[in-house]
Amino acid sequence: MSENTRETLTITDNRTGKSYEVPVENGSIKATDLRRIKTGPDDFGLMAYDPGFMNTAACKSRITFIDGDQGILRYRGYPIEQLAEKSSFLEVAYLLYFGELPLRSQIDEFARQVLSHTIIHEQTKKFIDGFRHDSHPMGAFLSTVAALSTFYGEGKHIFDANNRLVQFERMVAKMPTIAAFCYRHSIGMPFAYPDGDLSYTGNFLNMMFKATELKYKPNPVLEKALDVLFILHADHEQNCSTTTMRGIGSSHCDPFTAISGAAAALYGPLHGGANEAVLKMLVEIGSKDAIPEFIRGVKAGEGKRLMGFGHRVYKNYDPRAKIIKEVAFQVFEVTGRNPLLDIALDLERIALEDDYFVARKLYPNVDFYSGLIYQAMGFPTEMFPVLFAIPRTPGWLSQWEEQILDPEQRIVRPRQIYLGAGKRDYVPMALRESAVTQTA
Ligand code: CMC
Repeated sequence: MSENTRETLTITDNRTGKSYEVPVENGSIKATDLRRIKTGPDDFGLMAYDPGFMNTAACKSRITFIDGDQGILRYRGYPIEQLAEKSSFLEVAYLLYFGELPLRSQIDEFARQVLSHTIIHEQTKKFIDGFRHDSHPMGAFLSTVAALSTFYGEGKHIFDANNRLVQFERMVAKMPTIAAFCYRHSIGMPFAYPDGDLSYTGNFLNMMFKATELKYKPNPVLEKALDVLFILHADHEQNCSTTTMRGIGSSHCDPFTAISGAAAALYGPLHGGANEAVLKMLVEIGSKDAIPEFIRGVKAGEGKRLMGFGHRVYKNYDPRAKIIKEVAFQVFEVTGRNPLLDIALDLERIALEDDYFVARKLYPNVDFYSGLIYQAMGFPTEMFPVLFAIPRTPGWLSQWEEQILDPEQRIVRPRQIYLGAGKRDYVPMALRESAVTQTA
């Protein structure tokens, strides 16, 4: 930086001819600094209009770093590739929350605490039983998570650090149990209780799939694959559900309620519901021959998108998708090849050579191959968003913790640009028809 340069931005308002100097910090300006820019004393001041928060930073964070152009993802500075290869989901959960990799004694204690919380209150089971037998597991899951606030009322003491840690351990522990119980309810199977001899993902597979055997033995390849998938889904900075978590959390409600809202945001097909949508899309395409026609329809804007492609932040191959593609082949060694894989591989190849997708920098995202793996492992498609919500829990809670401890944060309350009717007088019901006829 030369001596004459300053970390400021000069804005000239051509409506008034006035100039303003605004500080630049961390490559951004404070939106509230724009409020000084007015056409007159009655003017509210300039606002930034940014639907979908395309270019608005709502927080300062030290948790997850993404460089979307380079395809880089790091948790607390550690590259996702190294964590996927060398770490475990519980260690990553610890890392996200505490900011550092744990010592052996620390991870052992954390794992012990999580294990001690895996059982859910018997009343929670009755709650799950109340859902219709064919209810979507994600609806049952996020409602049950919200209901946890009625079991653990102390969760509302959000400024007590010990209390927050207990709720963190509790939620990381209980999410798989609630998820599996919702699934078993939806297929009419008795609940399978947590098995403390198994790993986090091994136990989840046990609660999902245990049948008449006395002891469920997870396949180690599938158990490891699920652990890697959980690591890849653990956090992704300010996405839709995390922003929802922070938004709800900004009103200082308990974390169970906030997480339930975050899970609701995750449910949609543009976010965590995308891998379910990818599977449906692959089934609908049906064969490799039908791919060109499908791509033509997407490009013509015939109401469909190439699900599992594109990302708000990544304008390059999603680094998670690269790892997931490798995991897919490891899983298929055990389960047999998912017949939809060949359609997916061809679809990816054709799309990546097509100008429409190249020009818009649309690459496969985390959801493109994950559904194929989950399906091969025996998970029904309805469980896919639930399988996203379980590992996102430590990410949501770490972001929530960061937010409520950040003195710069306020209750979330965006502005709007009002374009509706000006003031008008109420018209009594009896006079409305004639009023409508007169104005028609
Ligand atoms: N298929 C076809 N066209 C697409 C797609 C797609 N999947 N994604 C974006 N486009 C086009 C879009 O039509 C637009 O074209 P144009 O400029 O001609 O109008 C352009 O690319 C920009 O799209 P956008 O909708 O403005 O981009 P966005 O950043 O608002 O949306 C997205 C991001 C992820 C919602 C979107 O890419 C999408 O709908 N993808 C499919 C759903 C999906 O796979 N979601 C999972 C995201 S990763 C996991 C997660 O975050 O949960």
